[in-house]
Parts: sequence; C-alpha cells; structure tokens
Amino acid sequence: MEYKTIVCDVLVVGAGGAGCRAAIEASNHNLDVIMLSKELLGKAHTSMAEGGINVALGNVDPKDDPATHFKDTVVGGNYINNQELVEILVDNATSRVYDLEEMGAVFDRTPEGKIAQRPFGKQSWRRTAYASDRTGSEIMVTLVEAIRKSSVRVFDEMFATKLLVQDGRIAGVTAIDMKYGDYLVFRAKAVVMATGGAGRIYKVTSNAQLDVGDGYAMAYEAGCEMIDMEMIQFHPTGMTRPESAKGRLVTEAVRGEGGILLNSEGERFMKNYYPQVMELAGRDQVARSIMTEVIEGRGSPTGGAYLSISHLPKRIVEFRLESMIEQFGDAGVDIREEPMEVSPTCHHFMGGISIDTDAQASIPGLFASGECMGGLHGGNRLGGNALCDTQVFGALSGENAAKFAKEHSLTGFDREVAKQEFDRVEAMLQRKDGISPADAREELNNLMWSKVQIFRNEEDLEYAVKELKRIQKEVVPKIKVDVPIKRFNPGWHQAIEFAHMVTTARMVAETAYMRKGSRGAHYRVDADPDDKGYYNIVIRKGDDGEMDLKRKDLVITKIQPP
Ligand code: FUM
Repeated sequence: MEYKTIVCDVLVVGAGGAGCRAAIEASNHNLDVIMLSKELLGKAHTSMAEGGINVALGNVDPKDDPATHFKDTVVGGNYINNQELVEILVDNATSRVYDLEEMGAVFDRTPEGKIAQRPFGKQSWRRTAYASDRTGSEIMVTLVEAIRKSSVRVFDEMFATKLLVQDGRIAGVTAIDMKYGDYLVFRAKAVVMATGGAGRIYKVTSNAQLDVGDGYAMAYEAGCEMIDMEMIQFHPTGMTRPESAKGRLVTEAVRGEGGILLNSEGERFMKNYYPQVMELAGRDQVARSIMTEVIEGRGSPTGGAYLSISHLPKRIVEFRLESMIEQFGDAGVDIREEPMEVSPTCHHFMGGISIDTDAQASIPGLFASGECMGGLHGGNRLGGNALCDTQVFGALSGENAAKFAKEHSLTGFDREVAKQEFDRVEAMLQRKDGISPADAREELNNLMWSKVQIFRNEEDLEYAVKELKRIQKEVVPKIKVDVPIKRFNPGWHQAIEFAHMVTTARMVAETAYMRKGSRGAHYRVDADPDDKGYYNIVIRKGDDGEMDLKRKDLVITKIQPP
C-alpha cells in the first residue's frame, strides 16, 4: 500500500476552537506545526456554539470571581470534576478571553463599553460573555484569521484514522486525504488531540455531522486512559421540527435572557421541579423536567415543551438572539410573537481522554484539549464552560506539546501497523457483499437513543452493551462502501467513521452499565441508593483487547462532596 510521509514537530488533530488555539500556541515556539482539519478550515463544530463563553470578569456582577466560577463548576458538575483541571480553567479564563479580543474577536458590550455578560444555568452571577447568539462563530472566525497569519501548516479535509505509538511514545497518525483518497502518515514529536465530541452516535443531536468520536476511539485503541464516558449532556432545548433541523441547538441564552418553559396546559412547569432557579437549573435537571412532562402527557405535539420569549421587548430579542430569530424563521416561527417547540438533544460529552495538569494523556507526547478530553466538567458541564475549555486547554496543550517537542527527538514508527491500517480502510472499498454504513449508523443511533438515554435503567443498559458487542463483532467487519471510489467519497468516510462510533458508543454504554447510582447526567430510574457516585470510571484497552473498566478516586483540591 502506497503512502506519503509528512514530518513536523507538533501535530494538532482537529481544527475547532481547541485545535486552532493549540496550533497557534505551539507555533509561537518557532516550531513546525501542522494542523489537520476534517472539514474545510473554519467549519468546525465550535462555530455552531451560540450562547457564550464563561469568564469571571465581574463586568455586570462585580462580586463574581474565579473562586465562585470554580465552585459553580464543581457543584454544577455534581462534584466529580477533576478539581485540579477546574482550577486551571477558572484561573486562565480571563487571559484567554483577552487573547481572543487581541486577536480581533468582538464581544457585545455593556453601556460602559466593557464585555457584556449574561446569566447561564447554575451559575451564581452573570458570567457568560457573548457575541449575540453566535459566539462560537465569532471565536472561530477570529482563530482562523490568526491561523492564516501564523506559520501553521493546515491540511484540510484530512481524516486521521489511527494514532501511531512507538515504544510507549506517540509517533504520529495515519490519515486519508478526503479529497483525493491518498494515504498519509504524519509523524511528529508531539501530538495534540482536539477532535471534538461524538453527538452523532445519538439519533438526535446538536452536533455537526463529523462529531462521531474519532478522537475517543483512536485514543482508546492506542491505549490511553479514558474517563467518565457515561456522562453525556442532553441539552434541554433542541429544535423539534422540521425533521431536518431536529436536535439543532436552541441556545440556553434564550432562557438566560428570560425565556420561560411551558407545557401543553400553558403551565410554567419548572416551578414544580426547581422553584428557586426555574429555567436556569442545571442542563441535566431541565432536560429531565421536560421529559417528565412529556412522559406524563403534558408535552407539545412534537414531544417536547414550549419555550417562550415573546414577553420580552422585541428589540432585546432582535439584538441578543439574532440567530434564533433566523433559525426559527426558517421553520416558519416568529419567536418574537410565538413560542418555540423544544426537546432535549445530545449536546456534549463530559468524558473523554484522561489528561494531567499539563494536558498530557497517559501516552507520553500525546496531549488533548476541548471536548475530546475528559474529567474537567464532571457529571454535567455548565453552559459557557465548553468554549472556555477550548481556549484554556487548547493553549495549555499547545504550549506543553511544544515544550515536549523541544525536549524530544522524532521517534520511529512501525510501518507494518500503518500498512495494516490502510489495508483495513481499503478493504471496505473492495468488499463485494456487506452492510451499508448508513443502515448500520441508523441502527446504532436508534439503539443509543432508546437505551442509553436521559432516563437509564439496568435492563436497557445491559441490552445496549450486549448489542454493541454484537455490532462490533458482526457488523463492523462487514461494512462495505456502495461506490468503490477513493476521491471525495462520503460513503467511504462514513464507513471508516462507523468503527469509531461503535467503539465510542460501547465505552458510553459499558460505563453507564457499571455506574449503578445516579450522578449528574447519568440518571438511573432504578438507582442503587448505596451508590452515591462520588468516583470516576476509567477505561483502558486491556491486554486481551477487551474494555477494562475501573473506579478511580476523585481528584479533590478544595470542595469535598457533601
Ligand atoms: O446553549 C448554548 O448556547 C450552548 C452553550 C454551551 O454548550 O456551552
């Protein structure tokens, strides 16, 4: 199998908010930095982030400070966050937001000209800085411009498929050029994973098409420790119609700006669940409340709730929620006058690649940041902490990858391993009979959506684990591509993605099955009252090739669980 080899000092896999920030930071060290983007540069999922970025500036509520941001993040995370990582997040948020401003990002302002901040769920103060309701897009435009001005070499439409490890150290990745179908090996002294999440393993998700868990599966297969994979955030408010927009994010900023949730009887039902905070309860709490209304027969016609903002002055809605006006306008709903219909949508993976305080994974030379790393957000991520995470941990991973690259020489790699990987993906093109990736994906999506969902129970999870093992054994090896061409062939890319999706889904189901009590987003209707859940679950690939799951003690620096 022919492949081309490209060498650099630091390789960044992923080109969203975390990947771009990591590449910018690494390139500041006069190193040869390559960034791989699975789509065209600038189109990453970060650009779909809407409501804002958390930073305790105290511009609107002067009492806010990093210590309160820390407390809110840990309490919001149901006390299972790695508190060392939370300290890094809150202590660096201000500098990273000012970096963005220096690079040219324009945030909305207060009347005095300071960065404006809005309330988001489970936060003590108005902390979330924003650019209307298209904050992620503003940040991505800014980062892409900085990347263009930097020395970073960008390879877009490049699909990384496998991490190469040599003598216990990272050596690089195998990749496919999606445009031409060429095979490549990227060799590097240090690698940063910034591959985002895996919402696409679920039927309904706010995530971009390419969020299929590539990074989780690659890291697991390479032998990394993975953490908290059972902790999936279902954002309470996704669009319910039209079908093509189902799951699309309806920003928490709607509720932050005063939006209220109503059931089919016109009742503001959050008062029955979380009367103190109402619509600004934790995302896990609001999602469960909406689903309880639906299960008990008070849902909207499309199986959700109504979200109304029509009581606010139109000019506020037009200024602060411009994307929502457009998004619902396309669906024939004028949110200034009428309520939106919303229901929960898979939004974020709190779990992922386990990292230390240098953002280094358990394989030396491999770093991770953004949604593909785990442990920071615990059992439930606060809205606005994801964009903050991309900037803080993006910069940290880039800096430490650069330091590592300066201190180490390039390691070799096993050509046989690379060859086997390219043979594996090539075989999908050659297979005459088999299962189409689209059908296989639909089966997986339905399984995850029905059995590893917001309300979980022993029977469903046991079934999901069994089914996922079967899919991994019997379906994955039979995936075949309908049209056997290598030049831009989405069917082939979907086929390769499928194995990553199944590995990721299995990690989610296995850990969810192991956790017998409720904690954060993992809610068991049959919870074992003796399992308070104050622990993390880590997974590694065992010597027998099977998933090896273990409980791990929490990393606590300041706040003890109750
Ligand atoms: O609702 C939102 O705007 C999403 C923000 C986030 O997930 O951080």
